[in-house]
Amino acid sequence: MASRKGSHQSRGNGDKYSVLLPTYNERENLPLIVWLLVKYFGESGYNYEIIVIDDGSPDGTLEVAEQLQKIYGEDKILLRPRAKKLGLGTAYIHGIKHATGNYVFIMDADLSHHPKFIPEFIEKQREGGYDLVSGTRYRGDGGVYGWDLRRKLISRGANYVTQVLLRPGASDLTGSFRLYKKEVLESLVERCVSKGYVFQMEMIVRARQGNYTIGEVPISFVDRVYGESKLGGNEIVSFLKGLLTLFATT
Ligand code: GDD
Ligand code: MN
Repeated sequence: MASRKGSHQSRGNGDKYSVLLPTYNERENLPLIVWLLVKYFGESGYNYEIIVIDDGSPDGTLEVAEQLQKIYGEDKILLRPRAKKLGLGTAYIHGIKHATGNYVFIMDADLSHHPKFIPEFIEKQREGGYDLVSGTRYRGDGGVYGWDLRRKLISRGANYVTQVLLRPGASDLTGSFRLYKKEVLESLVERCVSKGYVFQMEMIVRARQGNYTIGEVPISFVDRVYGESKLGGNEIVSFLKGLLTLFATT
């Protein structure tokens, strides 16, 4: 391959990457995650857009997003807000409708997913022509930093039970740093019934069922510094319900 050094022009035969950033009370995190995305996409030269899906955050996240749009441009930062908190799964569904790229990244906006991994996702996808590339905390150099024992057990437990019941053949089922071919994402979303956190798990299970190819990239997940996780007891209950529904219906 030709040297990439110093090349900042657009790479990749017309490919465009839409990044879906769901936000709920991420005022402190949004400027930094957007800055990092702009930096890593800029350095690697891939064409991109960032779609912020804010669910009426009371902390004023949307106003911050509006400022960022002024700084980076309306072609780079798209705002697709909703009036109230309607859940993570439906935030993605809403975002996809507005994506103009042929590839779509989904990731958290709280800096738990570092944009430095973006070029690795893209290279992995191109290497194998994968339908989906999933960031994994449970393989290779991947890992989790900053979680307490309770949270680690929930994540490990959810992954373990799902592995045993559904054998989906991917190492991180609940993670949400992923790259999809857009048409694959659209067709998977249509088949998914769950709306909350369990959405990620259902997506990868349905991908396997549909014989889509899955690549994996080890990532480090670092717990948020600012703000709070929205994962509560309700989400854990709905995860288990979703898992059992999938087990019973697939
Ligand atoms: N628009 C919108 N609406 N965004 C939301 C909502 C919602 O109802 N709920 C959460 N978000 C956004 C947050 O603002 C953040 O950007 C992202 O979704 C993840 O939410 P967190 O609350 O930070 O999730 P977490 O850190 O507890 O959970 C992470 O790890 C889980 C398990 O490993 C996420 O990556 C989950 O998707 C993952 O399943
Ligand atoms: Mn988080």
